[in-house]
Amino acid sequence: MEESQEAAVPVVPMKEMLDRALADRYGVAAFNILNDLTIEGVLAAAAEERAPVILQTSVKTVRQYGRDQLFGIFSALARDVAVPVTLHLDHCPERSVISDCLAGGWNSVLFDAHELDVAENLRQTQEVVAEARRRGAHVEGEIEGIQGVEDGIGSDEASARQSLEVAVDFIKRTEVDCFAPAIGNAHGQYKATPTLDHQRVSDLVEATGVPMALHGGTGLSDEQFTDLISRGCAKVNISTALKEAFMKSALEFLKGAEEKGTWDPPSLFRHQRAAVVEMARSHIRLFGSSGRAW
Ligand code: 13P
Repeated sequence: MEESQEAAVPVVPMKEMLDRALADRYGVAAFNILNDLTIEGVLAAAAEERAPVILQTSVKTVRQYGRDQLFGIFSALARDVAVPVTLHLDHCPERSVISDCLAGGWNSVLFDAHELDVAENLRQTQEVVAEARRRGAHVEGEIEGIQGVEDGIGSDEASARQSLEVAVDFIKRTEVDCFAPAIGNAHGQYKATPTLDHQRVSDLVEATGVPMALHGGTGLSDEQFTDLISRGCAKVNISTALKEAFMKSALEFLKGAEEKGTWDPPSLFRHQRAAVVEMARSHIRLFGSSGRAW
């Protein structure tokens, strides 16, 4: 059989992707995908930008499809994409779902045990890291809640902050591959411009050498993204912007369809896909990961 000109790159480990990004100080965009259209649109954007990309799933999306069906859709669509891709489970407090996704082919998981006290969180995160390692997978850790409810997980209340020493000790003793600090960021659209504790990112990276995950990406300014990425936020999470691109483009299209009285689903899908691709490309460019595929 003839080889294609551009060989497909296999799905890569999250750690490899983030360690490269940390070393060269760019951000890998991590989009919370929802279905086949958003998976395909984000992958197309990454391929057009020649950028590595993380696709992440909420627990809600895993439950909506079922693990195997969701993984099957991801695998079928990612197989022939010629840029590095990795599949990550976003905020998951449930050990059974963590184990299920690791067994089902996810490359990394965020074990979100911030509701436990730090000692118990640390003990269980060590177990999750050991379990992930057995499967060649990686782990993001978290000890403070990121404000805002996303897909049914989280709280609108700001959670307690831990000291820098506690966070550094957690990262070193658990050997997590990535860490999600609370720095004044929040999931969903910001109601006012957030004041971010960017120094905490610098301090954590300097003390541990571990890449940070920037949660609550939607609504941050270009300057905030650029600054935090330069300090070591190698993974940048975007969820709300994808949901809005997906749904607002549908709303706009459907209003027009109603006016004209024409109901053609493939035209709707094309319109939504274009909005998702544009949203993803603009974030990838802003985070400096265009042209970073290997
Ligand atoms: P946004 O919904 O604010 O983009 O946050 C995404 C996120 O951090 C997912 O964990």
